[in-house]
Amino acid sequence: MSNFFRDNLNKSDLVAAPMAGISIPPFRKVLRKFFDGLVYSEMISVEGLSRLGKESVEYLNRYEGERLLVHQLFGGNPSTYSEAIKVIEDTHHIEAYDVNAGCPVRKVMKSSAGSALLEDLPRLRSIMKSIRSSTEKPFSLKIRVGIDDKKLVYNEVLNIAEGEGVNALIIHARTKKDQFSGTVRYDILEEVASRATIPIIGNGSVYDYDSYLKMKSTGVDGVMIARGMMHTPWLFKVIESKGDYSISSDEILLLLLDMYQDMKVEALRRDSEIERLKKINHYKQIFIKFSLWFSRNLRDATTFRKNLYQCKDINEIMDQVDTFYKSA
Ligand SMILES: Cc1cc2nc3c(=O)[nH]c(=O)nc-3n(C[C@H](O)[C@H](O)[C@H](O)COP(=O)(O)O)c2cc1C
Repeated sequence: MSNFFRDNLNKSDLVAAPMAGISIPPFRKVLRKFFDGLVYSEMISVEGLSRLGKESVEYLNRYEGERLLVHQLFGGNPSTYSEAIKVIEDTHHIEAYDVNAGCPVRKVMKSSAGSALLEDLPRLRSIMKSIRSSTEKPFSLKIRVGIDDKKLVYNEVLNIAEGEGVNALIIHARTKKDQFSGTVRYDILEEVASRATIPIIGNGSVYDYDSYLKMKSTGVDGVMIARGMMHTPWLFKVIESKGDYSISSDEILLLLLDMYQDMKVEALRRDSEIERLKKINHYKQIFIKFSLWFSRNLRDATTFRKNLYQCKDINEIMDQVDTFYKSA
């Protein structure tokens, strides 16, 4: 059980990050075409799960045959984790959990969750205890190095994690104050990796083979990629091939078409017509975003952007996507 992370990181040291609104099943299926490592879900509210909230429970969905999926939970109340886990494990196949203790978004922090947990370490410890006493499934903890440069808490958190049976620690090597743009603290990753007894997964600004190597040279067991995969899901292949992988615009087009097909399948799983329509509209917006992100390095991407935003319906969107990627 406790070797889940270590065993899988030994097979592939790359990890696909939890990203709200992005790590959805159809996109996770795209990622799987490019690597065989661990993939994280979007964050899921334990409050929502414990109340059997429909939306929260839907976040647990996998695409057919999906494996090596870690479900990320968030919440501030220790006992709610154990309530949520009871609900989940009665009805869903779970391989592993993660706890979000890094999100700096105010809405999340208001419920004492995300990076608010780094300011309340007794609460963080209680959450770890509550999970460990509720399940034998492996679980990881995802943190930032601290609140700001003066309040670094990674050492205390490592002690808590190791003491409470956490199976891997993911460190986004920035502080909460840094948000998403401060310097990545490779020195801290090196320090933690040298003394940890559980696997350490480093995270922060890995966009190519060189930045992967830089992070790997700190001694971490795994490297988690977030924004890099959102624009370039084939980045995993680029890194695995030491930079020797490229993808044609025709192949990108196929990825997008397959993804939209999977979005439709996902939407059709909803119970009522209204829910199906709502979901497909939501996916349409996400599909536009991915179509634009994937076009980043291609010719005439700016015109494509303008054209795409003028489309009235999905048929026009599909025509634009088809024309652009076939001629790029
Ligand atoms: C749009 C977006 C959504 C994110 N959603 C989550 C989330 O649900 N859970 C989480 O732990 N981190 C989330 N993150 C943080 C990333 O997982 C990652 O820690 C951060 O972006 C740093 O990695 P990067 O430099 O490779 O992007 C999100 C980041 C972005 C940009």
